[in-house]
Amino acid sequence: MTNNKTYFVANWKMHGSLNSVNSIKNVIKLSKKSKYKNAKIVYCPPYTLISHFVEKTKKTKIDIGAQNCHFKKKFGSFTGSVNANMIKNIGSKFVIIGHSEIRSIGDTNKSINLKIKSALKANLKVIFCFGETLKEKRSKKTNKVLNYQIKNGLTKIGNIKNIFFAYEPVWSIGTGIIPKINELDKQVRKIKQIIRKNYKVNNAKVLYGGSVNSQNIVTLKKISSINGFLIGGASLNSKNFIDIIKKTIN
Ligand code: PGA
Repeated sequence: MTNNKTYFVANWKMHGSLNSVNSIKNVIKLSKKSKYKNAKIVYCPPYTLISHFVEKTKKTKIDIGAQNCHFKKKFGSFTGSVNANMIKNIGSKFVIIGHSEIRSIGDTNKSINLKIKSALKANLKVIFCFGETLKEKRSKKTNKVLNYQIKNGLTKIGNIKNIFFAYEPVWSIGTGIIPKINELDKQVRKIKQIIRKNYKVNNAKVLYGGSVNSQNIVTLKKISSINGFLIGGASLNSKNFIDIIKKTIN
């Protein structure tokens, strides 16, 4: 890892009840220690808990994010949906867009592009997810797929300074399998190259997500091209999440 900030984004997916809000108290404690000042923690709980997390983390450096948003900017008749302005309005600073679990139920590169645009307009920071499936990996299409997802997700977006790139190989999410370290390093460097070439940005932040846990973090943290992690299952339990942070920053 570099000496800059390392991002630890907790993606809680469809987990968490009111009781869970208090469970993050030790993470809050850790975030206040000067030793961990370079650990940037972002919690993305389900919509139902965002306000509670915002309240709980008030006066800390922890930020809160949502896991998705609708692409429409204004209020409207979209049952079950929440737009970027609504997310911003309740104190979220981030939103995850393009997660494969939402791509798999209908999100397209086009809808992802519209969502990113409306999130940026709402002054949210975007955690833009992309990654290849196992089939695509096996047929050696990873580079092509990532190129396509990145370029199409960012169509007509000029300023990418508020975008964090989250490389999440679909075959790695929730499976306990992570990429080989040298392959992952190479892939992240390629992603940075795509960003540099297309958007003339040299310091884009690229996170890795997929089965990060308190064991494999010891290896993953050695990859200097990675700026942080998007963590699902292992972020639900504060002890595991703290372990990951402590082992990364020591
Ligand atoms: P996982 O999920 O850590 O449980 O694999 C990561 C993600 O989907 O963001």
